[in-house]
Amino acid sequence: AGAGALAHDLSGRRVVISAGGTREPLDPVRFLGNRSSGLQGWALARVAAARGAEVVLVAANVELPAPFGVRVVAVESAEELRLGMHGESSGGETGRPADVVVMAAAVADFRPTTVAGSKLKKGGATEPSSLELVRNPDVLVELVGARPAGQLVVGFAAETGDAEGDVLTHARAKLARKGVDLLVVNDVSAGRVFGRSENEVTVLATDGTTTAVPAGRKDAVAAAIWDVVADRVARQP
Ligand code: CTP
Ligand code: CA
Repeated sequence: AGAGALAHDLSGRRVVISAGGTREPLDPVRFLGNRSSGLQGWALARVAAARGAEVVLVAANVELPAPFGVRVVAVESAEELRLGMHGESSGGETGRPADVVVMAAAVADFRPTTVAGSKLKKGGATEPSSLELVRNPDVLVELVGARPAGQLVVGFAAETGDAEGDVLTHARAKLARKGVDLLVVNDVSAGRVFGRSENEVTVLATDGTTTAVPAGRKDAVAAAIWDVVADRVARQP
């Protein structure tokens, strides 16, 4: 750790990262969305590319220019993100599966059960009085289930402590539930993550290792996350 910024420790590796937040259509002009800016996913892509990786960003509704040397696949809904991530992680146009898959995107947990073909109008018989939702598939769990041998899968989790347990207790349960190799945990209790350039995370691994990443700009946090990932990737052939 530490030398990451200058290292080419991801050289020759193929990395697929999801970023941003999905939008679930309600009618041709409306959607359910979330406040994810895509900044952390962008920082991860920028740093991975600088460290020699071939990087693809599957980006849900992010208004940022493509990082240098990074291919951006634009998606909107969770279903589009799902298809994009399956395609790119299994090889995409290259036919070569990703070495590392990172799910940094905020994927909508629910979507409207039906999408109106025309704009919902005030008045009349079709005016909605409530919204029926259905659960979206868990893309991360699917990717873990479909991964080729040797592919490292990294999840993200924004957690708050509550009566059931503190942030890391919830995070460890999520790590196990998702089956990922690494889980990057954000404590969002203070509500200071979305749209900011600063971040502070803890990286949990299946072997019980916990790496605390001190508060810093999202590039510094990304570098620390890649330090943990690169260390594991180096042990793969
Ligand atoms: N995720 C996903 N597909 C979903 C929901 C989440 O791939 N439908 C991924 C996110 O990209 C993230 C990880 O799962 O990497 C954890 O997301 P999070 O919202 O913290 O987990 P959930 O399982 O949705 O649990 P919660 O009920 O706490 O939101
Ligand atoms: Ca969720």
